[in-house]
Amino acid sequence: MFTAGILTISDKGSRGERHDKSGEVIREVLSNMDVRIVNYEIVPDEKGLIIEKLIKWADEDNLDVLITTGGTGLTPRDVTPEATLAVVDRIVPGFAEAMRTESLKKTPHAMLSRAVVGTRGKCLIINLPGSPKAVRECLQVILPALPHAVETLKGEAGECGVAEA
Ligand code: MTE
Repeated sequence: MFTAGILTISDKGSRGERHDKSGEVIREVLSNMDVRIVNYEIVPDEKGLIIEKLIKWADEDNLDVLITTGGTGLTPRDVTPEATLAVVDRIVPGFAEAMRTESLKKTPHAMLSRAVVGTRGKCLIINLPGSPKAVRECLQVILPALPHAVETLKGEAGECGVAEA
């Protein structure tokens, strides 16, 4: 079992002008796993606010996984990757590589997402693109690796090589 937070990053969503379907999709997909969603919030595309939230959820609330949705593209307001890079101490490129590789089979627009994944202490921070469709597609790609990622990050996994033998 692990704990998770969902951070939706959307100017319109934060003003109540857009229903947060993407956050709902994350919740729905995670409901099939042994996950307890502890925190959920919508913040505007403001780097400082995103940083503040990520640090609090990782350091004070000690969540295992933080999933953000939105703000990974190329509009002038998209700053989620920059905020994430400001708080992580290690990048985990394989997650984002896998998401983009698999997503490219569905849409060439997948290459527009600058999503990053990294760790802050024992917390795994995952950026997902903003649309509900993209969220579902990307989660399907990374979910099989998520439990083992959390286990290893928390130091609870056995030796990977032995387990795979
Ligand atoms: N990835 C998947 N799997 N499916 C999608 O439909 N949409 C792309 C991309 N990644 C998409 C996707 C589009 S259109 C954009 S603009 C970028 O994600 C960035 O989205 P964001 O700015 O909402 O984070």
